[in-house]
Amino acid sequence: MKKYYITTPIYYVNDKPHIGHAYTTILADTLSRFRDLIGDTSFFLTGLDEHGLKVQQAAEKNGVTPAVHCDTMAPAFIELWEKLNINYSDFIRTTEKRHIKIVQSILNQVYKNGDIYQDEYEGWYSISEERFITEKEVESGLFGQVKKIKEKNYFFKMSKYQSALIEKIESDELSIQPKSRKNEVLGFLKNDLSDLCISRPKSRLEWGIEIPFDKDYVTYVWFDALINYISAPKYLEDNKVFDLHWPADVHLIGKDILTTHSVYWPTMLMALNLPLPKAIFAHGWWLTDDKKMSKSLGNVVNPLMLIDEFGVDAVRYYLMSEMVLGLDATFSMDSFTRKYNSNLANDLGNLVSRVCTLVSNNFDDKIPSCITEDSELSERFSSIDIKEHLDHFKIDSLLNEIMSFIRSVNVYMEKNQPWKLVKEDKESAGNILYHAAEALRVAAIMLSPVMPEKSKEILTALGAKDLKLEWGSLQSGDKISKTDPIFPRIIQ
Ligand code: MSP
Repeated sequence: MKKYYITTPIYYVNDKPHIGHAYTTILADTLSRFRDLIGDTSFFLTGLDEHGLKVQQAAEKNGVTPAVHCDTMAPAFIELWEKLNINYSDFIRTTEKRHIKIVQSILNQVYKNGDIYQDEYEGWYSISEERFITEKEVESGLFGQVKKIKEKNYFFKMSKYQSALIEKIESDELSIQPKSRKNEVLGFLKNDLSDLCISRPKSRLEWGIEIPFDKDYVTYVWFDALINYISAPKYLEDNKVFDLHWPADVHLIGKDILTTHSVYWPTMLMALNLPLPKAIFAHGWWLTDDKKMSKSLGNVVNPLMLIDEFGVDAVRYYLMSEMVLGLDATFSMDSFTRKYNSNLANDLGNLVSRVCTLVSNNFDDKIPSCITEDSELSERFSSIDIKEHLDHFKIDSLLNEIMSFIRSVNVYMEKNQPWKLVKEDKESAGNILYHAAEALRVAAIMLSPVMPEKSKEILTALGAKDLKLEWGSLQSGDKISKTDPIFPRIIQ
């Protein structure tokens, strides 16, 4: 069966990982776990983009070789992913042999087919963007340090594929989401595409993959990096494995790398005669005081700091629910505390304690019997269409629905007051508690992709052995366990 193939961008190793990297990676992890929950088999790729000028300069600054610099930086990412409970299927580094080999084969192939040619070019070069930019872009002043460069380089015939690309984007054969980003790319494609400069002379940049047909050049970092999406699933190495993965179901990216993914990458794939990814989803930025969080601005919040204090699942939940997918979100300790206290400590945590305490005090720690089916909660549960949300990458709205389902269980408890009812009619009170506990069981399973550890704790507290996402699987008589509060309130 074809895997549901999800990718994150591969991250530059010029600096330590920050909330921007953590966000996309948690998003991919959550999406991948949700896909598995609804019966797909996901494959989730992440990794590191280790070549290029930025990395070379960072290494120089630290007085080490680029290779040593990369080997020193890689563990910081791997350790953070461990800490964030990231269950990736593969982790690729562009300095690995398996990647370099494929990039070089692709360069040879495209060169042989006539889609790569040499030309002399003079233009403005942006160091931070690692690409030639137009006069207009220079005038905008948004591209940091620029310099005029005249040199011979290799070019990829990107322009040749322009009209085919427009057609594929318009028809959603390549679905760019959200819609505003699709319009942005189509707007960009209204102007004539130029060909893409895909080489850098070694005299200017040494740290890259050597062009196999001209040893004086290395390949442009983006041409190298984008190929990771097919080199990891063994393009040209193992057809069976490759066909199981490609085309990717979604490339998750930040909005700043939209053009490289929606224009450069699909035209490269067309030159290779490969199908295009099914979807590209561009999320917004995390801001603090409305400025993008970035190391150079010095406003990066270290996600590790939040994990140590509030637990990894609370951080995952906050990041996934607070950012409306596609839009920017502002991070603040205030909004974190508000969301934690209201959704996790109050709505969910209190409900777990309440149900467990009532079962423990009145039913000898055993899940009471379901005497009569009460469809109020089961119908609410069945109305949550997980797949529909996932198909549109709307994790935030899916989480909102799950939370509102949990709130409806609280309302159900308030309405039926089993703590009073138990004194007059123990069976009916047990029936109410059975339904509330079953609702909590399915809620915990639905939350497991975003909060894998806390979800397990809730299921253990309920004594739930059946992890099926089907209503009615909770067994009467199963023993609940005592737990500390799952989400202790944050006192401000
Ligand atoms: N190496 C390239 C990607 C190559 S993919 C073939 C790159 N790396 S990066 O490390 O600079 O950034 C990776 C991702 O992090 C981008 O998608 C970017 O949008 C995201 N973020 C960086 N800062 C961010 C925020 N403050 N908020 C959300 N995401 C942002 O680009």
